[in-house]
Amino acid sequence: MQTLHPLFITLHVLSVVVWVGGMFFAWVVLRPTAAQQLEPPARLTLWAGVFARFFPWVWVAVVALPVTGYLMIFGRFGGMGGAPLYVHLMNGLGTLMILIYLHVNFAPFRRLRREVAAQNWPVAGKQLAQIRVLVGVNLLLGLAVVAIASGGRFLVPG
Ligand code: HEM
Repeated sequence: MQTLHPLFITLHVLSVVVWVGGMFFAWVVLRPTAAQQLEPPARLTLWAGVFARFFPWVWVAVVALPVTGYLMIFGRFGGMGGAPLYVHLMNGLGTLMILIYLHVNFAPFRRLRREVAAQNWPVAGKQLAQIRVLVGVNLLLGLAVVAIASGGRFLVPG
């Protein structure tokens, strides 16, 4: 298992790059630009299409992160009991991020697609507003977990 550690950490960090980087681009770059330039029908249709293309990649990440994470925990630390504090924090906050994503996918995103297809723009707008808040929370959590996992481990005791 130890010999596969380089593979696990690589897949783990690539998943983080795709998921957190994608959220950063969506929230910080695309969101204000679309709000400024597009009327609700075009904007809501754009977001339904953007999420439909982004979320399959997030599914890969939310499966790969815990799988590779637990493989590393058992391979390198011999189980949860031997894992340092930064790994416990990552596990807790990472699980919270995954639960938030699952909610976004199965509740407001599903409704957004339905309401956009029905051209029910006010209700579709409410779904997008919910997604915006939840993805904003997940983006902040994701950035915090990266800080804890990479830099924070030198600050907090094991
Ligand atoms: C969901 C459960 C997760 C588990 C069980 C987990 C577990 C782990 C483990 C065991 C390591 C290797 C630590 C080491 O060898 O020192 C690691 C590395 C890392 N994890 Fe996670 N992780 C999870 C989720 C996440 C999430 C959601 C993020 C970011 C949003 C993340 C970001 C990172 C980063 C950036 C590293 C590399 C740290 C470095 O080597 O500098 N992890 N993770």
